[in-house]
Order: sequence, then C-alpha cells, then structure tokens
Amino acid sequence: MATHRFLLFFLVLAVFGGGEGGRLNQRESAIIKLPTEKEEPAEEVGTRWAVLVAGSSGYGNYRHQADVCHAYQLLRKGGLKEENIVVFMYDDIAMNELNPRPGVIINHPQGENVYTGVPKDYTGERVTTENLYAVLLGNKSAVKGGSGKVVNSKPDDRIFLYYSDHGGPGVLGMPNMPFLYAMEFIEVLKKKHASKGYKEMVLYIEACESGSIFEGIMPKDLDIYVTTASNAQESSFGTHCPGMDPSPPAEYITCLGDLYSVAWMEDSETHNLKRETIKQQYDMVKERTSNFNTYSAGSHVMQYGNTSIITEKLYLYQGFDPATENFPPNELRSDTQMGVVNQRDADLLFMWHMYKKADGLGKKSQILEQITETMRHRNHLEESIEMIGVLLYGPKRSGGIINSVRAPGLPLVDDWQCLKSMVRVFESHCGSLTQYGMKHMRAFANVCNSGVSQGSIEEACVATCSSHDLKQWHPRNRGYSAR
Ligand SMILES: *[C@@H]1O[C@H](CO)[C@@H](O)[C@H](O)[C@H]1NC(C)=O
Ligand SMILES: *[C@@H]1O[C@H](CO)[C@@H](O)[C@H](O)[C@H]1NC(C)=O
Repeated sequence: MATHRFLLFFLVLAVFGGGEGGRLNQRESAIIKLPTEKEEPAEEVGTRWAVLVAGSSGYGNYRHQADVCHAYQLLRKGGLKEENIVVFMYDDIAMNELNPRPGVIINHPQGENVYTGVPKDYTGERVTTENLYAVLLGNKSAVKGGSGKVVNSKPDDRIFLYYSDHGGPGVLGMPNMPFLYAMEFIEVLKKKHASKGYKEMVLYIEACESGSIFEGIMPKDLDIYVTTASNAQESSFGTHCPGMDPSPPAEYITCLGDLYSVAWMEDSETHNLKRETIKQQYDMVKERTSNFNTYSAGSHVMQYGNTSIITEKLYLYQGFDPATENFPPNELRSDTQMGVVNQRDADLLFMWHMYKKADGLGKKSQILEQITETMRHRNHLEESIEMIGVLLYGPKRSGGIINSVRAPGLPLVDDWQCLKSMVRVFESHCGSLTQYGMKHMRAFANVCNSGVSQGSIEEACVATCSSHDLKQWHPRNRGYSAR
C-alpha cells in the first residue's frame, strides 16, 4: 500500500512537475487520465506527429528498415496515432526471399516482430526526398503516390523525425535518387517553421557523417533540437551482425540494427518517458554509441539546433506507454560493448555471408562476381577522385586540398549548388557514386571550396574517366544522386 501511494505521488509529479503548469487541483483526474488523452487541454501538448524514414533498400540493409519498424511500434505504444505517424520504408525486407522468417522483421536477436501493423505510407519508388519534403511541409498536393498522409500539424504540435540509413558528408541516402542534400533539408525546416507548423521538433538522425548535415548550417532559432549518430567526419555503425556479439539468430546473414538507433529505442523502452528528459537519453545514447567511450568502434553523438529543448521530457515527442509507469527515469543499462560494423562495410559483410551460405558452384560464382564488381567499382571511384585532384591541383597540392576537413562549426561547403553540379558531372563521366561512394562528397565539396571553375572540373572528369566502361554503374540506371 505504501509503495502504491508512493507511485501515485510520482505520477502526479510526472504529470504536473516538469513545467507543465502545476494545476494540482486536478490531481484526482490526472491520476486516471493521462495528459496524452484527449480530455487534457490542447495547449498542453498539442498533437504528437512523427516521421520515420528508412533511407535504404535491399536485404543487405535490413537493419535500417528494422530500426524504423521498431520506432513505429515504440511510438504506437506511446499512444501516438497511426494517422499522425508517416512511415517511409522501401518494404522489400519482410517478404524478401533471403528473409528466414517470412513476414517478420526483428531489430534485436531476441526481438519480437516489429513489422506487424506498420503502415505502408510511402514504399518502393515512393520513398523519395521530394515526398519527404512534401510530407514534412504538410503539402498534400505535392506528394507523388503513397498514402497521401502528410504532417498536417498546427502551431501547438510537436514533431519527432527519425531517420536511419547510409550517408556521407552533406548528404543522406534515399533508396531512389537523388540523395537528400543538407542545405535543401534545412530550407524545408525553415519553411515549416515560417509557416508556424509546429511548437517544437526533435530530430534523431543515424547515418555516416550525419553531423555534416547540420554542422555550420543548422539555425538555433527554429525550435528544433537535433542529435546525430556521428560527427561530420566519421562513420556510423551497424550492430547485431552475423558472427558478432551479440549475434542474430544463426539463420540471419545480415545485421539487425544500428548502434545509435537501438541505443535510443532500447533506452526509451526501459524508462518512464514522463520522467526522463531528452538530455538523459542523449547522455545514455552518447555513451552507448561511443561503445562506452572507447570510440574504437563507435561514433560521436552530436547535437545541433536549439539545445534548450533538451530539458524537456521525452514523452512530449515519443509518447508514454503506461506499462513503463514504474520504470526509472534514468538508469544506465548493462555496459557490455556491442560488436559493430562500419555502415560502409556492412554490405560486403552481407555478401560474404551470402557467398559462404550459397550452395552450388553456379550460385557461388555469381555472388563472387558481384563482390568483385563491387570492389572494382569502389577502387575505380577512389582512383578517379585522386586523379581528378592531381589534374586540378598538381600532385603536390592535391592530397591536402581533396582530403582537407574544415574546423567544427564550419559548413561542409559554401556553395551547395556547386556541390550538386560537381556530383552530376562526376557521375556522368565516372559512374554512380552509390551508397559507398557517398563518402567522397567531401572531396567534391573541397573542390567547390577551392573555387575551381565548372569547366575545369568537367575537363578533369572527362580526362580521368573517358576510357572507363561504366557498365551497370552508369547513372542512367538508377538516376543521378544530385538533381
Ligand atoms: C505545394 O506543392 C505544390 C506543388 O509542388 C506547389 O505548387 C504549392 O505552392 C505548394 N504549396 C505550399 C503551401 O507550399
Ligand atoms: C530555444 O528554446 C527555448 C525553449 O523553448 C526558447 O525559450 C528559446 O527562445 C529558444 N532559442 C532560440 C534562439 O530560438
């Protein structure tokens, strides 16, 4: 009985404590009705919206869609309504011929099915940057295909956006071209802010070099708080991969999750989000994503935008699951390090497992051919960029210019339009960047920053790649990664 009263006391504190307006005369009703319910005045929390984006496709990228499905379940348990959650996922995993459990997606070795009930708002070729922008802006007429669901939010509403995929300096991947370019994304956020489309927004972004999307360009006055899985110049990591600890069930040949993503979700699931602040989650996720400050394999979680928002309670964005009522607001979980793989090596790891598992020489040599082709194209990209640098700046200066990294606080590139046209010129002569080649965006940015003319860039690309047969890597196959 005593504990019971103690818990009620805490609930009341949680409901009226954190600056939510302390109307203690309504204590009785608060015990029964949670502020997530309709009876509460709208101005208290408004509506919670969420946008969930898996930016990849293919069974080798299983983990990104698994992350997003998991996030969907978490938010639903938190009381967000399906009509307020917009999901972008290619949706080629659950029924993939390589999936050992048809119709099932898991995000943890012992995890339950997170695929059930996930709405197919934007799937397959509808998963585009263009649709993401239209959805965020609540512009239904600009959406192409899909369910047509958009973030039709009001000034009092809160928006949570979570993205998981590959990235590179200044870009986030999408399963359909073009990539998302940082500056355009931020322009969309500014537009949403100008239209008074929300009260506050929280973004969680997992991708390689995800810090570069915001570094030096994210305004502090948009009422948006951002955390990213990595800083502007490092990889992010896949986890629960075959052969690692903890490993997925033996029949899986692909990674089940990503380090930063599973860190925030597992943290949310084990705490009372009416009591836990965004900061507490940030600290926890930062520690886990650094693999407990070793950074041996792990990345630096970063924050951008208006960091005052960090003192708010998480339930304002992720909702509150009544089953977590008695969970602590903050408690460090087990500090076992997790086996991880660099996002960019995860597809090779996947192909290697596929090769090992394949039976029959025909099948094996087919996979081997695929691995060889992938390696060959990676080398080609690397050598071409090196060569272009030499042609533009001469052998002595090239390396220093191409590989230079700007100081923290400075944007990747001054002229984002230059970056995009540089990418197009490169791809048309030297082939698609692919999700691996995104890592070279910094080289292109540096060329732009050095003030070289478009003419010289084109000349260098032609000279470097004109004798190279692009074969399957011609941008006409999948489109240019810049528009
Ligand atoms: C919505 O998108 C359409 C089509 O792209 C555009 O013409 C219109 O101006 C947009 N509306 C708003 C309010 O931005
Ligand atoms: C940041 O957010 C806080 C809390 O909502 C607000 O008071 C402050 O004005 C914001 N800062 C800026 C620069 O907009």
